[in-house]
Order: sequence, then structure tokens, then C-alpha cells
Amino acid sequence: MKEDNDLLLVQTMWSITDALHSAATSADGLTACLMYLCDQLPCEQGTVWLRDEANGILCAIGERGSSGLAGLCLGEQEGAAGQAIRTGEMLYLEPGADRSVLSPNEQEAGLPEGALLWVPLRTRRGSFGCLQLGTSERPFSPDELKLCRRCAAIIALDLEDKGVDALPGMAKKTIMSLRNVSKDYSNGGKTVRVLNGVSLDIYENEFLVILGESGCGKSTLLNIIGCMIAPTEGTILVDGKDFSKPTEEEMTEFRRSAIGFVFQAYNLMPTLTALENIRFISETSDRPMNEEEALAMVGLSERGDHFPSMLSGGQQQRIAIARALAKSPRMILADEPTAALDADTGREVLMVLQNAVKEQGTTLIMVTHNAEIARIANRVIHVRNGKIAEVRINPVPLPASELSW
Ligand SMILES: Nc1ncnc2c1ncn2[C@@H]1O[C@H](COP(=O)(O)OP(=O)(O)O)[C@@H](O)[C@H]1O
Ligand SMILES: [Mg+2]
Repeated sequence: MKEDNDLLLVQTMWSITDALHSAATSADGLTACLMYLCDQLPCEQGTVWLRDEANGILCAIGERGSSGLAGLCLGEQEGAAGQAIRTGEMLYLEPGADRSVLSPNEQEAGLPEGALLWVPLRTRRGSFGCLQLGTSERPFSPDELKLCRRCAAIIALDLEDKGVDALPGMAKKTIMSLRNVSKDYSNGGKTVRVLNGVSLDIYENEFLVILGESGCGKSTLLNIIGCMIAPTEGTILVDGKDFSKPTEEEMTEFRRSAIGFVFQAYNLMPTLTALENIRFISETSDRPMNEEEALAMVGLSERGDHFPSMLSGGQQQRIAIARALAKSPRMILADEPTAALDADTGREVLMVLQNAVKEQGTTLIMVTHNAEIARIANRVIHVRNGKIAEVRINPVPLPASELSW
């Protein structure tokens, strides 16, 4: 038994070192280590916290499980994560232990019911972050605690040498918060739960990808965010105000004022020219962009007087993006925008979308089943079985021009 444990320890250390060395960035490496540890132990929940000294906050840069912590920021001293980082001491709560050390943010996150562990990432100059791990029922064994401690020591040593990359976690402004959102569909008298307890914050000026297999509920989630449909259960906040049970009028008004849609099938009006298609929608906005300008943004200035039937699929999709941009919306929602396009044309469309986030400061939420495409986002949430199964932050998103699939 002892030898087994030693072997596991050596294997784990080796894998962790390998993950750190083969990752493109320190934050990527850290997230890969967390995923490896979660698989190995195994445990259901995991978060990597990094301290952002300049802003005095802790940022969750990667997460396993669906607590909704990833992408949140805590105060530097806040809660259990703050305590582990401040003291440099491992904090372990057995199943059933008093959890009053958790801050309200941590308590509301829906952490698993079992054991919770925070292991600081400690260097001689103090701790720059911690690994948080949780099980749904069992305690961690002494050997597991030892394993986690050693892994954290190796990670900290490695990153002390290399330096941690600039953090993605400047305090961000939240547009919309979903808490424990569920959605049921009834099919022939039978009720099917398609989303089951999804919690998610959507920030200003981020490129968020919703990734998952066909049928997992991605479009349903996007349609709830876009106020096309209402959730069956759960809370939705917009700018901090309750928006869980909007009326039809409120939903229409929210869509009109805040959202630009891009669909897989372009959905342009066949009897209107490119410019007229853009104007038709931008006129509904309170602060429309000039439609010529919107057309220029997608690189189709020359095509303003073309009808959709005279344009290729990729060009039609770029017109559809210009149409969404021209509303100057707070969020652009794109559902599999490249699914009907070949790889080269799809890449051009994604370049336009990625650029819009940069240049216009808009928020883009894109649904895809293609994990390769997800690399161009700032943040990727992976939906599985109606839940958020994994969240990843790409500290340095891949430029869409470098995509190949
Ligand atoms: N309006 C609806 N009525 C009944 N079932 C639906 C409806 N919309 C979607 N579904 C079902 O919900 C599941 C998730 O659908 P969807 O959100 O479109 O998944 P994805 O976009 O990930 O492919 C699928 O099984 C789908 O058949
Ligand atoms: Mg879909």
C-alpha cells in the first residue's frame, strides 16, 4: 500500500511538472494541474485562485465543477481562499465541519457537500494563490492531503522561477448573473430537464464561449441569456436587479435595447440589400452605429447594395454580424455562427467577431460544439448534462487568424 502511494506521488509530481512545462502560459499550466489533480484524487470541484496584488483581489482563473466560482473575484482577504493565501497554511474542512470561515460569496457558490481543501501556492515572498478542492461526500485521506501539499509546493516553486503571467482578472463589471437556472421542456406530456442548476456571471467586454456536445443545452442557455425564453427555475439579475420573471414586454425591450443576435442560418431578409438589412435592425436601437461603418467593420464596404442571394455564405454571415454590431448592443449572442461555413470562411467570420470584442468593447457570447474554436475566447464554459462542467480562462486567447480545424 505504501509503495502504491509513493508511486502515485511520483507519477503525479511528474505529470504536474510536465503540465507546467508544456502549457503556453502559467495560468494555463495551473489550470491543467488542477484538472489533473481533480481527475487523480478524484474530486468533483476545483478552483485555481490567483492573487491580483495591484487590484487587491483574488481571481478564480480555472474551475472544475459547476460552483460558478470561476470568473468571480473575491477580496484579497476574503473567506477561506483569502485565509489560506494570507496565512500560507493549508485549510481543510472535513465533511460536516463548520463552514463559517466561508465568505457569503463562497457560500452562495454551491460548493459540494463533502470535504473542502485550500492549499496555498507559497513562495518565500508569500502566497500568490491557492488550489481549492472539494468532494461531494468523502473526506480526503492523509495521503491525499500530503499529495495536494506536495503538488502545490512544486507548482509554487516552478512559478516562482518563471513568474506568474499578468492576470486576466481586473475587477470586471457584471452585466448579467444567472443563479441556479433550470429549464424544463415538455415533450408529449413528458417533462425533460435540459438545464439543471446553471450559475454564470457575464461580464462587460468579454468573449465567452459556451462549448458542448450537440443537444447538451447550449442554445437553450443562450436563448435564456438573450431573453428569448424564460427559465423554469432560478434567478437572473441584470445590472444587479432581479429579472427572473420578466413580462413579455420586458423581454422584448431587453432584446431590443441590449442584444444583437447572429444565427447559424444568417436570417437576412432576402428582399433587402445588405445595407437595408443592417439599417432595418439598427433603427430599432437607441444608439445605432452608422450602417456604412458597420459594413466597413466586417470588410464588406463594397457590397452595401448587394442582395443576400448575390453574396456567399461567409459574406452573408458577415452582414449578419454587421447588423448585430450596428445596434451597438451590450451583448452579441452568436449561435454556431460558423457551422454552415467551410474552415477558411469560418475563420474570417471568427476574426470579425473577435475583432468586434476588441474594437467595440462589446460582450460576445458564442455557442459552438468545436473545442478548437473555443481557444479564441477569453473564457470557455463547458456544458455537459445540463450543467456547467468546466470553466476555463484563456489568459492569452488564440488570434482567430491562427485557427485551423
Ligand atoms: N422547444 C423545445 N421543446 C422541446 N424540447 C426542446 C426544445 N428546444 C430544445 N429541446 C431539447 O432540449 C435539448 C437541448 O437542446 P439545445 O439547447 O438546442 O441543445 P444544443 O444547442 O446544445 O444542441 C435537446 O434534447 C432538444 O431536443
Ligand atoms: Mg444548438
